[in-house]
Amino acid sequence: MYICLCNALTDRKLKQAAAATGSTRPGEIYAACGCRAQCGQCVQAVLDLLRDHANQVADQLQGAD
Ligand code: FES
Repeated sequence: MYICLCNALTDRKLKQAAAATGSTRPGEIYAACGCRAQCGQCVQAVLDLLRDHANQVADQLQGAD
Protein backbone atom coordinates (compact mmCIF):
# COMPACT_ATOMS: atom_id res chain seq x y z
CA MET A 1 0.00 0.00 0.00
CA TYR A 2 1.30 3.43 -0.88
CA ILE A 3 1.97 5.60 2.15
CA CYS A 4 3.77 8.47 0.44
CA LEU A 5 2.38 9.36 -2.96
CA CYS A 6 4.88 12.14 -3.63
CA ASN A 7 7.78 9.69 -3.40
CA ALA A 8 5.92 6.48 -4.34
CA LEU A 9 6.87 4.85 -1.03
CA THR A 10 4.98 1.77 0.06
CA ASP A 11 4.58 0.47 3.58
CA ARG A 12 6.84 -2.43 2.61
CA LYS A 13 9.63 -0.16 1.39
CA LEU A 14 9.35 2.01 4.51
CA LYS A 15 9.53 -1.04 6.80
CA GLN A 16 12.58 -2.31 4.90
CA ALA A 17 14.26 1.09 5.33
CA ALA A 18 13.39 1.11 9.03
CA ALA A 19 14.84 -2.38 9.46
CA ALA A 20 17.98 -1.49 7.50
CA THR A 21 18.66 1.75 9.34
CA GLY A 22 17.20 0.95 12.75
CA SER A 23 15.78 4.44 12.71
CA THR A 24 12.37 5.57 13.93
CA ARG A 25 12.73 9.10 12.58
CA PRO A 26 10.84 9.88 9.38
CA GLY A 27 13.57 12.13 7.99
CA GLU A 28 16.11 9.35 8.22
CA ILE A 29 13.70 6.89 6.64
CA TYR A 30 13.02 9.20 3.71
CA ALA A 31 16.77 9.71 3.31
CA ALA A 32 17.35 5.95 3.34
CA CYS A 33 14.84 5.74 0.48
CA GLY A 34 16.72 8.43 -1.43
CA CYS A 35 14.14 11.16 -1.00
CA ARG A 36 12.65 13.56 1.49
CA ALA A 37 9.18 14.68 2.51
CA GLN A 38 7.62 17.01 0.01
CA CYS A 39 3.99 17.86 0.81
CA GLY A 40 4.18 16.36 4.31
CA GLN A 41 0.76 14.69 4.12
CA CYS A 42 2.29 11.28 4.82
CA VAL A 43 4.43 12.14 7.85
CA GLN A 44 1.87 11.08 10.46
CA ALA A 45 1.22 7.82 8.60
CA VAL A 46 4.98 7.20 8.42
CA LEU A 47 5.29 7.86 12.16
CA ASP A 48 2.44 5.44 12.87
CA LEU A 49 4.01 2.81 10.62
CA LEU A 50 7.42 3.21 12.28
CA ARG A 51 5.85 2.97 15.74
CA ASP A 52 3.97 -0.21 14.79
CA HIS A 53 7.13 -1.65 13.24
CA ALA A 54 9.18 -0.88 16.37
CA ASN A 55 6.51 -2.52 18.54
CA GLN A 56 6.52 -5.63 16.33
CA VAL A 57 10.30 -5.88 16.60
CA ALA A 58 10.12 -5.44 20.39
CA ASP A 59 7.45 -8.14 20.62
CA GLN A 60 9.60 -10.50 18.53
CA LEU A 61 12.61 -9.85 20.76
CA GLN A 62 10.57 -10.51 23.89
CA GLY A 63 9.28 -13.73 22.37
CA ALA A 64 12.83 -14.82 21.59
CA ASP A 65 13.77 -15.01 25.27
S1 FES B 1 2.72 12.14 0.38
FE1 FES B 1 4.67 11.94 1.26
S2 FES B 1 5.61 13.84 0.96
FE2 FES B 1 3.71 14.03 -0.04
